[in-house]
Amino acid sequence: MNHPAPAHLQGPRIKTGQPSATPYQTLSVKRLTPVLGAEIEGIDLSRELSALQFEEVSRALAEHQVIFFRDQHPTPEQHLAFGQRFGQLHRHPAAPHAPGLPDLMIIQADEHSPRANGEMWHSDVSCDAEPPMGSILYIHTCPPSGGDTLFASMYAAYDALSDRMKQYLSGLTAVHDGEHVYRGTYANLGVQDKSLYPRSVHPVVRTHPVTGRQALYVNRGFTTRILGIPADESEAMLRLLFTHMENPLFQCRFRWEPHSVAFWDNRCVQHRAMWDYWPHTRSGFRVTVLGDAPFYQPSSDLATT
Ligand code: SIN
Repeated sequence: MNHPAPAHLQGPRIKTGQPSATPYQTLSVKRLTPVLGAEIEGIDLSRELSALQFEEVSRALAEHQVIFFRDQHPTPEQHLAFGQRFGQLHRHPAAPHAPGLPDLMIIQADEHSPRANGEMWHSDVSCDAEPPMGSILYIHTCPPSGGDTLFASMYAAYDALSDRMKQYLSGLTAVHDGEHVYRGTYANLGVQDKSLYPRSVHPVVRTHPVTGRQALYVNRGFTTRILGIPADESEAMLRLLFTHMENPLFQCRFRWEPHSVAFWDNRCVQHRAMWDYWPHTRSGFRVTVLGDAPFYQPSSDLATT
């Protein structure tokens, strides 16, 4: 009788395969890791993108899930215009914005801040019924060191699960709640709380509308409960999934320099910002592009057990 090899001799936990063989004509693309993340050169985000540049930036985002640009100097209006090429802009339900520009979210932490944005793994505003498809963060002021952002591929996290676990999660839904995230969070900046913050139910595994790939879609920031299973089972399952997703195998880490831009796809990526630079200042703006309601289309090859 053949026994399976011991766990430590069963080969790599993830096999990401090769990137697209189609060369880019207007960009150069340098991968950060084989799993996710690429630095893009050859494009000035302050100028209107040509049709081919737009198509290639969209393709780079689909292939790499989060893309980075260095040495960019967009004005607030140019930053907003870049975001608008990818769709209608999303307006944050709570965070402060630049004066007169409600779609330009301020990202700032300094020596007086009681908190910094994004310190917990999350997908942006997943409590919305139609959460953002992408976020475009421009950081113009960096601390001397630190302030990195970590990104994790939820495709890789899903792919690394056993078929039994994929089967278990197939078709489950979960509650994403903004209440505990936003209430009182921006009080020090003079923001008055709304009477209600968004709360939505989304599939635990979502099918990406562009690539068709499956991605885990629960996160520590917003997801409070898996529906249709007992509360203690939901709690244990979320704990397991949150720990699983945070495996460094699925991550890349971006080291900001002044005037860098990161554009991530919230449908397949989670991120976490490091506030390790106090008392220094890190500052910029985020433009967020509206997405559609998450859905789940079961894979035909998912084994039934
Ligand atoms: C966020 O949008 O969650 C903040 C990310 C960051 O500041 O790096």
